[in-house]
Amino acid sequence: MRQRKDFLEDESATERLGEAIGHMLRPGLKIYLHGDLGAGKTFLTRAILRAAGHTGRVKSPTYTLLEPYTVTLQGHTVALCHFDLYRISSPREFIEAGFRDYFGDENICIVEWPEQAGDLLPKADMEIFLTAEYQGRTVELRARSELGATCLENLYPSPNT
Ligand SMILES: Nc1ncnc2c1ncn2[C@@H]1O[C@H](COP(=O)(O)OP(=O)(O)O)[C@@H](O)[C@H]1O
Ligand SMILES: [Mg+2]
Repeated sequence: MRQRKDFLEDESATERLGEAIGHMLRPGLKIYLHGDLGAGKTFLTRAILRAAGHTGRVKSPTYTLLEPYTVTLQGHTVALCHFDLYRISSPREFIEAGFRDYFGDENICIVEWPEQAGDLLPKADMEIFLTAEYQGRTVELRARSELGATCLENLYPSPNT
């Protein structure tokens, strides 16, 4: 499966999606979150982190640009980097901050406003588009790699397999 559209009728639907994503994290997974301010990118990330076992606060990286966490996946400690690139002034700042080094094969990266880094970001495994619609949110998940496609299959198991 390469893409999937869904409607999240309220906050708890977003939380359920985040929880499901949090349970299928893999080392190296890159998830890029698209959507206007208030679309629910940070909210979704919070639910992902909680499901991955993080019990502390999840601050929006609005000003810090990066909030680092560690999560335990099948007994292994993995870094999870939550970026919000809304406030970087140019893709160059992304390089100068050393952010590129975080996008290795091991770390999980969740990025809000990835478009702010221009084409400096490596390819996402999964892109998620959130749009406010009626009282809820439309969500579109697009797998951009085999890893992303596997994750999407796990999120929405096809009925005939
Ligand atoms: N499915 C939903 N329906 C309605 N409101 C939602 C839904 N999911 C999240 N929200 C709300 O949307 C807001 C999103 O804020 P936030 O995650 O900070 O946005 P962003 O990080 O995209 O700027 C939160 O206040 C949250 O309560
Ligand atoms: Mg945000």
